Amino acid sequence: MMIMEIHVLESPDVLAKRVALSIALLIRNYPGRLICFAAGDTPMGMLRELVSLQQCGACNLNSMYYIALDEWVGLGYSDKGSCSQVLRDNFYDPACIEKNRFRLFDGMAEDIDAECSAMNDWIKIHGGIFLAVLGIGLNGHIGFNEPYAPDEEGCFSIKLDEMTKDISEKYFGKKMQVNTGITIGWRTLLNSENLYVLASGKHKAQIVKKAFTGELSHSIPASLLRRNENLKVVLEKEAASDL
Ligand code: PGA
Repeated sequence: MMIMEIHVLESPDVLAKRVALSIALLIRNYPGRLICFAAGDTPMGMLRELVSLQQCGACNLNSMYYIALDEWVGLGYSDKGSCSQVLRDNFYDPACIEKNRFRLFDGMAEDIDAECSAMNDWIKIHGGIFLAVLGIGLNGHIGFNEPYAPDEEGCFSIKLDEMTKDISEKYFGKKMQVNTGITIGWRTLLNSENLYVLASGKHKAQIVKKAFTGELSHSIPASLLRRNENLKVVLEKEAASDL
């Protein structure tokens, strides 16, 4: 049976606060487990809230382990808008997470397959993904699980969808040649013990409707996550306006 909770909230701020509180509770109750946070625009407010909650003693972010969701192949921390830069500058560094507690994809690695294996090992060593907090792309992608992404366990590199390339400029502030992504595969994300998909804004309304009320389809990877019984879809009201 597929069970999915959909929560609709008044604003991106309320969404950020609510989700951060739920996550802080999980962190208090399950120290030492592995968390995967997406690096897009959507989770940034929630990540800032988590840092604030830690500052007032509500949770200890250093009690957890972390893994990146994805990265643009060819980019690294020094590239503004890379996933590593966004997550380090907005979360890992402000939260003072110890370096041995998080593992980011090295988009500059010479051997991308070896990089995938190292990430697979990190997931295994920490007992699988305990919590994943994801956004959804306008094409229904999850991380860089583009439409018709491989149906395989673990991490892989993948050719980027045209829509993903077009939208990428918003992260970099300029046009960048990005053709390939490296990502945790949707099958592995599907096995997360706790799974959140967040979306804000009217521009997400159509894809949210397709992903969470339409058929499960490999053309919309986010829809496949509905097989996870602990999936929570948390939407700001504009993103929910087509439901
Ligand atoms: P966004 O990206 O959070 O920046 O909208 C979501 C995604 O493309 O996965």
